[in-house]
Amino acid sequence: MTEDSVIIRAEKVVKTYDTGTARVTALQGVDLAIRQGEMVAVMGPSGCGKTTLLNCLSGLDYVNAGEIWLEGKNLATMSDRERTEYRARRMGFVFQVYNLLPVLNAVENVELPLLVSGRRPKEARARAMAALEAVGLAQWAKHRPAELSGGQRQRVTIARALVNDPAIVWADEPTGALDSHTANEIIDLIRELNERIGLTVVIVTHDPAIGDRCDRIIRMRDGQIVGETPGALGLGHKGWPVGAGAADGQAGGGVRPAATTR
Ligand SMILES: Nc1ncnc2c1ncn2[C@@H]1O[C@H](COP(=O)(O)OP(=O)(O)OP(=O)(O)O)[C@@H](O)[C@H]1O
Ligand SMILES: [Mg+2]
Repeated sequence: MTEDSVIIRAEKVVKTYDTGTARVTALQGVDLAIRQGEMVAVMGPSGCGKTTLLNCLSGLDYVNAGEIWLEGKNLATMSDRERTEYRARRMGFVFQVYNLLPVLNAVENVELPLLVSGRRPKEARARAMAALEAVGLAQWAKHRPAELSGGQRQRVTIARALVNDPAIVWADEPTGALDSHTANEIIDLIRELNERIGLTVVIVTHDPAIGDRCDRIIRMRDGQIVGETPGALGLGHKGWPVGAGAADGQAGGGVRPAATTR
């Protein structure tokens, strides 16, 4: 893949957790490159490091070694504050648990990150309503989470993830708490947003059916990427050469020496 199409790049990323009694190496030298506009699934057995990878790539957590670039910026060169601002401005997050505030209704939950980052209330409300509309929930704007179904709640969190017009959405088992029919609807929605607005999506999942809805499936085991395959749609439908990632001879695909990326 060409250098300027890469939005997420990881090189030799190592992450260890020290709990005092034990030391766990959760990521053991991960190389990875993800294209702008790509929808990628990360799959692998429980404990293999998927959530750790997401947390490290998105700058929620620190790495012990290796480097991560997002939109060409090296995470290691950013201060805590710059990271937080960058996340708020350019990223959205969707987790298995909804993390919605129960006392706020749907539109208030969605507009909250905008208000926190200093947007005017009127603008925040308008953007939040537009985001709810994008996920098909406009008429539920005044309902609190307790009055919504699991699928509707997850739509609210997707609206909240989208409200800042992010470049990248990170999703960690976003359908893990949903029945398979609702899960499919949520994935269709994420896929549609990916295709319609060119959102880059990284989605951790245990569900092979979700992997198949993605452009590419990255497989992890024991803190490493052990392979990747195109999703059922294949990479070709977005005009990308099929197998281009694998052609570089590295799992994770298309990773070039550090010297060419700065
Ligand atoms: N905060 C932490 N402190 C110590 N160890 C951790 C911490 N978070 C994760 N680990 C360990 O790191 C390894 C990877 O965990 P991680 O949560 O990334 O796995 P996962 O692939 O997301 O699993 P699952 O599919 O169950 O969510 C595991 O061995 C786990 O016990
Ligand atoms: Mg996990």
